[in-house]
Amino acid sequence: MALCTPALALDLSEHEQAGKRLYREGISSSDAQLQARVGASDISVPASVLPCASCHGNDGRGRAEGGVRPPSLDWQRLALAQGERETNSRRYPAYSDASLAWVIRSGIDPAGNRLDPAMPRFELSLADQRNLTAYLKRLADERDPGVEEGVLRLGTLLPESGPLAEAGRVVRAVLEDGIAQLNQQGGLHGRRLQLITADPGFDAAGTARALDTLLAQERVFALIAPLAPWLDSRALAQAGVPLIGATPRDGGSAQVFDPLPGLPEQLLSVALHAREALGLAPDALQVVYAGDDQAAAAAALHQRLSQLGMQPPPVQAFDGQAVTGEGILYLGRAQGFSELAAALQAQGRQPYLLAASAQVAGSLPGLPAQWSQRLLLAYPFVPGDWTAEGRAALAGVQQRQGLDASHAALQVNTLCAWRLLVEALRQVGRDASREQLVNALEQLHDVNTGLTPALGFGPGRRQGLAGAHVVAVSLPGPGFKEVAAYHAVPDTP
Ligand code: HEC
Repeated sequence: MALCTPALALDLSEHEQAGKRLYREGISSSDAQLQARVGASDISVPASVLPCASCHGNDGRGRAEGGVRPPSLDWQRLALAQGERETNSRRYPAYSDASLAWVIRSGIDPAGNRLDPAMPRFELSLADQRNLTAYLKRLADERDPGVEEGVLRLGTLLPESGPLAEAGRVVRAVLEDGIAQLNQQGGLHGRRLQLITADPGFDAAGTARALDTLLAQERVFALIAPLAPWLDSRALAQAGVPLIGATPRDGGSAQVFDPLPGLPEQLLSVALHAREALGLAPDALQVVYAGDDQAAAAAALHQRLSQLGMQPPPVQAFDGQAVTGEGILYLGRAQGFSELAAALQAQGRQPYLLAASAQVAGSLPGLPAQWSQRLLLAYPFVPGDWTAEGRAALAGVQQRQGLDASHAALQVNTLCAWRLLVEALRQVGRDASREQLVNALEQLHDVNTGLTPALGFGPGRRQGLAGAHVVAVSLPGPGFKEVAAYHAVPDTP
């Protein structure tokens, strides 16, 4: 899969670019080596050892920790806002270009207060000072949305009415619980986390509007665990906003990190088991799908089967008619699965039916007993994956949020997405950018959730798991028995 990251870089003029080098690296636009005078005794050190960014942050937001804090260098705060400012017990009026140059040179603010000597004094040429000022005026534009002085804003899309409303309430409860827990411990890198929810409604237009609200108005930094069947992956990619949660139906992108395996990977696990344990011939597995929205996943599955050395016949679309094959790999909704089983029965046939539990679980109670042991399902995780710690974490959320176990799978999915996001945000540090978040997610390996096999991503790898457990279903009941533990399906070029 070719993954491309949209260009997130800001257009900076030549002077601003030079100012950025000075700000970040302490390097002059001329050959001169810049000096900084440090501390009460004015010791001279190269500015490259102590660039502005090392104290005020790449994002210029300053630091929340410590005693005398390097303040935010937001131009709005420094120069544009009306009235007096107060920082580290100094009170002073707005900076102008001239008084800014003066404070950097002398450590004296526009009210004549002496700054704490923790702020070095810099000898800058006129040109360097101009470049630096020009860059400070642009610094705020270089930040990604949603990263404020004391708040990091996250967004999600959850339906408030209709068939997904109950699931939406579950996801919201799990996310709000995670945020409350984290904020109670002081947040992340000095920021509180905030969740903004928008309702995607029932169609593509409603989803596009809700996404626009989150990105343009609410200016969220990243999306977490949305429940939005019409989410358009191109719109996500265009906005360059990272998403941690289920891959949109129309496909993934470089910005989308799905904790769980996609349908093709899940079904491959079942197919490999069928070949090895049931001895099905390489050409006996027929890919069948119901519903146009499944065609792409069916084609991807067919291709992966061929790459793994099987010879599947061409994909079939199920339209109520007969299908062939000794083993049928089904993609589609529960309703279609029931119809497929009925059509096969009418034909007097009883092939193995292989499917993903997430798609067909709803049809199991209605299936006749003759399908017992002919049904093999993929599960990304099973209760056997749950450690004592994982169970306690899940029980804690349920108890605090008044949730029962009826949406346990959704609760686990959401917890996993949350865990991965928090883990990556921790690694990114305070200067959070979307690009860094994507890089940090890419670096996550062997994340133990206590509720699933270990999760991880990689360059070009956007699914946290690369396979599934295989579970045999007995009927009536239904009863479940794991017949193959999770293992990653081998990668193919
Ligand atoms: C070693 C850490 C450090 C470095 C490096 C540093 N600063 Fe500071 N800066 C501080 C501290 C601490 C303060 C707060 C001093 C105070 O309030 O008394 C400060 C204050 C300032 C202020 C005053 C803001 C206000 O609201 O009054 C400006 C402007 C500023 N720094 C700009 C810069 C620039 C530009 C650079 C790079 C050329 C830079 N600083 C490098 C630590 C640093």
